[in-house]
Amino acid sequence: MSSSIILEGKNLKKTYELGRAKVQVLLNASLQVMQGEWVTILGSSGSGKSTILHLLGGLDRPDVDGGDVLFHGESVWTRSNKQINHYRNTQIGFVFQFYHLLPELTVLENTVLPAMIGSHSTSTSSAKDKATSLLEQFGLGHRLQHRPRELSGGERQRAAIARALVNEPSILLADEPTGNLDEETGNEILDVLAQLHQDGLTVVLVTHNVEIAAMGNRSVHLRHGAIEQPATLAQ
Ligand SMILES: Nc1ncnc2c1ncn2[C@@H]1O[C@H](COP(=O)(O)OP(=O)(O)OP(=O)(O)O)[C@@H](O)[C@H]1O
Ligand SMILES: [Mg+2]
Repeated sequence: MSSSIILEGKNLKKTYELGRAKVQVLLNASLQVMQGEWVTILGSSGSGKSTILHLLGGLDRPDVDGGDVLFHGESVWTRSNKQINHYRNTQIGFVFQFYHLLPELTVLENTVLPAMIGSHSTSTSSAKDKATSLLEQFGLGHRLQHRPRELSGGERQRAAIARALVNEPSILLADEPTGNLDEETGNEILDVLAQLHQDGLTVVLVTHNVEIAAMGNRSVHLRHGAIEQPATLAQ
């Protein structure tokens, strides 16, 4: 693990407005992630784990004057929408609890999709080759033309991981990736993530399971809208 900071959430604030009510989810959340690190964010349901992951990954915007996300020290949220989209598409891979595969597309089409979005350079055939090789790597070579509903939960999540990696992101953001799976299947998914991390991918994983948190290099707690400091070393 090198010692440079790849991703930083700085004084993040996020408020959701539900009708006339305001829900302040993140009050002042800061987190630094080192290149090649696996950081786990722990927190109870509703503490804002998904919210902070969305801000870090360029999926959702902090409040006005609600801090910033820095990627290699460069501001993400002061950039144009086009640049934010580019950051999200090229540097970040997302894995969700409920897979978020598009039901009408095949496994291969789902996996290729991020490579086709906003891309001027990637040819369809090279994107397909990349997606196919990732799916083969994750044991889904025989499922390329299947629809997600024809796959088991573990297979769907492996397809979702392939999709997250098709643009060769620097960082994988995983939001309770095993939360919908039985323990054995969940462990298979965690083994996949551990291997990717071993190969150099930076991982930020959200969970409320302390056993899963022990797999990473470091875990932090999100509580009362902030990341509690100092972080506890898991290993
Ligand atoms: N789009 C939204 N609009 C309004 N409120 C929201 C929205 N998204 C999240 N919230 C609220 O913000 C709070 C934090 O939600 P978040 O999904 O980040 O929590 P979480 O820690 O991921 O919880 P869980 O472990 O249940 O997934 C919750 O109270 C939730 O109801
Ligand atoms: Mg969540």
